[in-house]
Amino acid sequence: MSTIALPRIIQGGMGIAVSDWRLAHAVSSLGQLGVVSGTAIDSVFVRRLQDGDPGGHVRRAMAAFPMPGVAEQLLKRWFRPEGRAPGEKYRELSMYKQVVSKLRQQTTMMAMFVEVWLAKEGHANPVGVNLLTKIQLPNLALLYGAMLAGVDYVLMGAGIPKEVPGALDAMAEHRAASMKLDVEGLGAAEAEVFSLDPQQYWDVPAPPLRRPMFLAIIASNSLGTMLARKASGRVDGFIVEGPTAGGHNAPPRGAATYNEIGEPVYGERDVVDFPKLAELGLPFWIAGGAGSPEGLEAALAAGAVGIQVGTLFAYCDESGLAESYKRSVLEHALKGDVTVYTDPNASPTGFPFKVVDWGGNVADFEKRKRICDLGYLRVAYKTEEGKVAYRCSAEPVDQYVKKGGAEAETAGRRCLCNALMSNIGLAQVREGGIEEPPLLTSGDDLLAIPAFLQGRTHYSARDVLDYLLGTARAD
Ligand SMILES: Cc1cc2nc3c(=O)[nH]c(=O)nc-3n(C[C@H](O)[C@H](O)[C@H](O)COP(=O)(O)O)c2cc1C
Repeated sequence: MSTIALPRIIQGGMGIAVSDWRLAHAVSSLGQLGVVSGTAIDSVFVRRLQDGDPGGHVRRAMAAFPMPGVAEQLLKRWFRPEGRAPGEKYRELSMYKQVVSKLRQQTTMMAMFVEVWLAKEGHANPVGVNLLTKIQLPNLALLYGAMLAGVDYVLMGAGIPKEVPGALDAMAEHRAASMKLDVEGLGAAEAEVFSLDPQQYWDVPAPPLRRPMFLAIIASNSLGTMLARKASGRVDGFIVEGPTAGGHNAPPRGAATYNEIGEPVYGERDVVDFPKLAELGLPFWIAGGAGSPEGLEAALAAGAVGIQVGTLFAYCDESGLAESYKRSVLEHALKGDVTVYTDPNASPTGFPFKVVDWGGNVADFEKRKRICDLGYLRVAYKTEEGKVAYRCSAEPVDQYVKKGGAEAETAGRRCLCNALMSNIGLAQVREGGIEEPPLLTSGDDLLAIPAFLQGRTHYSARDVLDYLLGTARAD
């Protein structure tokens, strides 16, 4: 185990760049654990540079990247000092594949490095990074980039992160890491992998790295037990995330049933047995509707070290969510005019995804022309010729079907890649100057936020921590 003190509050990772470096910096500076999201951070990085990098933060961090020459190459390729012209489209990175160029991997490493470096700037407290296990292909470059910036914790769920601890062990010593690539249609005896060999990226001595703590995000005792016993390296603890949490949720166990508005129904089998989890001897935090002083108290009573909180942080001043959405959602929440719907179809991952409707402002995605140009949620499949190719159930339906996908799987699917970029004010511009629509996500607790807001529509990360830890001032 590490010698660093465990945090009581973890500010949950929130993609895409809702928990960006500013939020994580604020939380970690105050002595709790700030977590940056690494999801699609390479696209966030190139869009920030195309927007002129206001404040120079990205360039300041880039200058500290230890691989010589990479910052210069990427600045030349992406930086626009004067920003984009009004209505101008962003240039995109190439979409991830099983094998990509060295520069493409370095772009991902750099983007993750920048985010962690900025979150750690000017204080000595730990910072974490959150990645989705399911978005497999960029993950090794993201983890290596985060380690180059000295990340202290890696938190991963949305899939089974069994191979991540071993990859961290290897890459902390600059050894090659490989993981199994999930490919639909592969035979039982076949296997595909994706790899990263750090040695290929250095022509100067590589700096010494620390292996970060690894916390697995789980929703069941069985997954906790399996990871504690069978992961490829050390698991340092768990985040136990319930179905009320924001973002993606684990699907219910057993046969799927739905309530009258089509949300998945969770039952007894989805309840985690905390005393049994504690028998594994690892620290754990409780997430999902735990963001209140009472939630913290209950978590401690259940044997947890603390709580992981998302929704309250998502709307604070330091979060990456676009300012206009924060204000509008909080104003509607104060009037009791928000709903959170657990949509079983929206996410191309097939996992339930929580969608916020504030005053009927949720975008009509049926009007959006389908296009897949970010591609993070594409899955790999084996073609008839035996090659590995990629498809996403939110891409144009005819293309998906041509690639062997079932038409039924495209129903109700939303392009989360583009929508989540829009949420943070980095919307792609389409034909006729139309911007990609947003799709906001929050935990069910958004409905209870007025109790915390006390009439405010602005608050800081410090206000959230003061509230949770019971140090709020009487005024
Ligand atoms: C806007 C938003 C985005 C999220 N994105 C992610 C994510 O990318 N990865 C992840 O592991 N969890 C994600 N979560 C879940 C949070 O990290 C956290 O576990 C959860 O929000 C806790 O429940 P609460 O919202 O009731 O506080 C997200 C939550 C929100 C509200």
